[in-house]
Amino acid sequence: MSFDLVLFGGTGDLTWRKLMPALFQAFRHGKLPEGGRILAVARDERSDAEYRDYIRAKFAGVDEAKQPNDEEYARFAEMLHYRRMDLSQPEDYRGLKAWVDERGASTVVLFLATSPHLFPVICAQLGQAGLNAPHMRVVLEKPLGHDLQSAQEINRVVRAAFTEEQALRIDHYLGKPAVQNLMALRFGNALFEPLWRRESIANIQITLAESIGVGSRGDFYDRTGALRDMVQNHALQLLTMIAMEPPSTNNADAIRDEKLKVLRSLKPFTPETVARDVVRGQYKAGTVAGSKVPGYLEEVKVPTGSTCETFVALRTEVQNWRWAGVPFYLRTGKRMPARDAQIVVNFREVPHPIFPGTSRANKLVIKLQPEDGLELHLLAAKGGGASSSGQELLYPVSLDLDFDKAFPSERVGGYERLLMDAIAGRLNLFVRSDEQEQAWRWVEPVLHAWNADTVGPRPYTAGSWGPAAASALVARDGCTWAEEQ
Ligand code: BG6
Repeated sequence: MSFDLVLFGGTGDLTWRKLMPALFQAFRHGKLPEGGRILAVARDERSDAEYRDYIRAKFAGVDEAKQPNDEEYARFAEMLHYRRMDLSQPEDYRGLKAWVDERGASTVVLFLATSPHLFPVICAQLGQAGLNAPHMRVVLEKPLGHDLQSAQEINRVVRAAFTEEQALRIDHYLGKPAVQNLMALRFGNALFEPLWRRESIANIQITLAESIGVGSRGDFYDRTGALRDMVQNHALQLLTMIAMEPPSTNNADAIRDEKLKVLRSLKPFTPETVARDVVRGQYKAGTVAGSKVPGYLEEVKVPTGSTCETFVALRTEVQNWRWAGVPFYLRTGKRMPARDAQIVVNFREVPHPIFPGTSRANKLVIKLQPEDGLELHLLAAKGGGASSSGQELLYPVSLDLDFDKAFPSERVGGYERLLMDAIAGRLNLFVRSDEQEQAWRWVEPVLHAWNADTVGPRPYTAGSWGPAAASALVARDGCTWAEEQ
């Protein structure tokens, strides 16, 4: 299969930080179809050779194991091309069309790694230039809008030029191996399905914690905040994968139909429930991993007195037969003690305890990062005989599955997987426009309530697990967060 991958925003942060390293890994793993071309498009004038040198230099910032040696880079760089474009000029798109047509690749992927405010103009121009033929696909990176209306406007323009099957919305969390394993765990094994419901599960916690702050992205972040940056997309996508009904097939629309139903079943927020069930926070100066770090308000490009949230914890419910009454807690924050993303499924306690002392409910921990794996927490007897009181004591143990050990050398990163899927036209891991709009519909009352609220986010010390109110949120239901258990 021959392909052309066009990267709009070819000199931008996303391209050199995520996309090029992922493409190189795919190339190294022999997963990038042969005979492909990668065309970077940006504003300034450069030759192919200059662009190849530019990207080569950027690889210095990548993990050492993922850096190319000179011979590898020389072979990879043969695929790289560069083209100057003014994204507002129709003739520049016609020039791009001629470049693509001359080769006649069987697949053309147009990846918009630009600032999202350019999506409407680029999509309209692509359509006018005829860069929307059936073998062409457009890939859109988040953030897709900043509220429901702006997301609908982007979708309207995208739909005018591309069909739904041609428009691939990326949520890079869906490319993470642990998320694909969640599908495998639930629908490739019979073991958990009978337990995967309100009768057996007490609550579910999704934590996406980062130890980094906002870095140099203060201006972008301040317009975004944690709710839009992490909850509306990554956290909700994980929730849909946990809560969805078994799809009838492993086909993209069968899966996305089920995910959409979950989003539609989420308990809607009202101003009262936002005040009660959503906690927002903002980090103050503190210490993370032994280093002193500034507070959010001291970060570069953050406006004085900003009330932007860098932490959100919330409680919701999926209002259907399977999940009625089961709390789903979502939590995400910057400057937490560690980079730690995991989903914890807390099971109910045994109905009639016969062992004294330790009584601890089982839990399943699905770890996304830093490592991906599964832990099943159980209670076991040591087998050393009864205690002095004559009673058998139970101790917590866990069954641990480390996917890096189970599948050495076969692990691929999120972007690598999603780029290969985009080229191959596999849509399972891309977000459909109706899912994306429904997610906005659900978070909007929170945004409105915060706009009307003069109190602002609660401060938390960098290096902590967020404001105390986040612990109180779960304590109300008699629960604790995973790190407090
Ligand atoms: C991005 C957010 O979507 O995800 C960033 O915009 C965040 O703020 C990042 O840091 C986290 O991704 P990962 O894969 O490092 O957990």
